[in-house]
Amino acid sequence: PRCFIVAIDGPAGAGKSTVSKLLARRLGFSLVDTGAIYRCVALMATDERIPYDDDARLGELLGRVHIHFQVVGEENRVFLGGKDVSGDIRSPEISMAASQVSGRPVVRAGLLQLQRRLALESSKGSILEGRDIGTVVFPDADAKFFLEANPEVRARRRFEELFQKGVESSLDDVLADQTKRDKDDSARAVAPLKAAEDAIRVDSSSLPLSEVVHSMEAEILRRM
Ligand code: C5P
Repeated sequence: PRCFIVAIDGPAGAGKSTVSKLLARRLGFSLVDTGAIYRCVALMATDERIPYDDDARLGELLGRVHIHFQVVGEENRVFLGGKDVSGDIRSPEISMAASQVSGRPVVRAGLLQLQRRLALESSKGSILEGRDIGTVVFPDADAKFFLEANPEVRARRRFEELFQKGVESSLDDVLADQTKRDKDDSARAVAPLKAAEDAIRVDSSSLPLSEVVHSMEAEILRRM
């Protein structure tokens, strides 16, 4: 049997990570957090003081990106070159940097194969969460979802997530960052954030994420 691919796209804070993690666990699928991959590139660029628009140096850097994901307890940890960078990649600075490097076509093209390879490693199925999974990375995905929620709800979720991870921030700052990233992500020329035509749109503003997970799981099982 071939690997069943689930695409989950949507803006920051719509609940993608939470929902993806739960779905992966319930279905026994692997989980590819593609935002974390862009964040790793941003972290490397920042550490090496590479300007976020230096395509030549970013291109060279891409050849050195070695990422793997590992579920540890309740968490999906991210390893870059063997080092656990799960905390480092969530800082506000790296969030902004990720949004910038992800606008470079050289970066998007360079990460395409990596995302596909990580997903297809699973013999059963994979959940990919990101911005352009259903439109670019896996246009033939077996199930596509576009997760949305109103901006205030999303900012509050992100704020609480950061708080739980021990990252200090304020709700206002999170909302401001989010508004800027949403704008950049939707406005960029390459692979802008938008729902695939055949994606199922889910608005989680007034639904508990557990309910969202159940309806998504039912939809996936129907298609398996
Ligand atoms: O999902 P997350 O907030 O971790 O993503 C960080 C940034 O990476 C996003 O703001 C977006 O600019 C970029 N990204 C992307 N395409 C994806 C996933 C993330 O451009 N598939």
